[in-house]
Amino acid sequence: MKGVVLAGGLGTRLYPLTYVTNKHLLPIYNKPMVYYPIETLVRAGITEIMIVVGGPHASHFISLLKNGTQLGIKHLAYAYQEKEGGIADALYLARDFAKKDNIAVILGDNPTDADISLQVSRFEDGAWIFLKKVSDPKRFGIAVFSPDEKDKIIRIEEKPKNPTGDLAVTGMYLYDNRVFSYIKKCRPSARQELEISDVNNLYINAGKMNYSMLNGFWSDAGTFDSLYAANRYWAEKNSFPLSSSGLTRGAIR
Ligand code: G1P
Repeated sequence: MKGVVLAGGLGTRLYPLTYVTNKHLLPIYNKPMVYYPIETLVRAGITEIMIVVGGPHASHFISLLKNGTQLGIKHLAYAYQEKEGGIADALYLARDFAKKDNIAVILGDNPTDADISLQVSRFEDGAWIFLKKVSDPKRFGIAVFSPDEKDKIIRIEEKPKNPTGDLAVTGMYLYDNRVFSYIKKCRPSARQELEISDVNNLYINAGKMNYSMLNGFWSDAGTFDSLYAANRYWAEKNSFPLSSSGLTRGAIR
């Protein structure tokens, strides 16, 4: 399986931080944000990776990642997304890189310490998504389950106004090669983007969607609050020496 990290976009929700660099290069504790999704792929044994970049600071990725060998990548490819056309539009740029292989796709602003190796090793065809309970379902793609078969997903609702559940589709997806023909069928949404939820709904309608719950910490670090939460999580996980820094635990909570 090959990996694709999607790291385009302007990161407008993080202005003014993103006036000077790309959102995915902002720090999460002691590493740039984009290291986390790359490490998730490498931990699962995926070492052929394409990173799709975009926006005015795209060259910063090469300065940071170079050939990716320091992160355990064997082959790192780059693509440039010219417009902010959405996740599915960015993914379409990876079609020649993927060739006929299955791909694991991760959003560059979705840091997690979950291990997806098992799903990667078991994956054969169709699609596989990872769900996580959230307190703010209006911000995400939300899984809707069948009233008859309680563990069967019947559709994904992108940013529902009146959510019927709280299981978010995280920004980690396993796809077979048909993903590129499904993307071609999609049309821009109200926010003028090709939505990854539309692609996932095509897999659901074809009876080809599998899912598991994501075990571990996960954040969509695209807002100040979620970026702060991710920083705090990894600072504490890495035993940030609060006492020697002059801060008390109470001070950063
Ligand atoms: C995107 C997807 C959404 C998913 C989320 C995960 O949202 O569209 O389905 O739940 O990533 O981070 P966006 O970041 O475009 O708001």
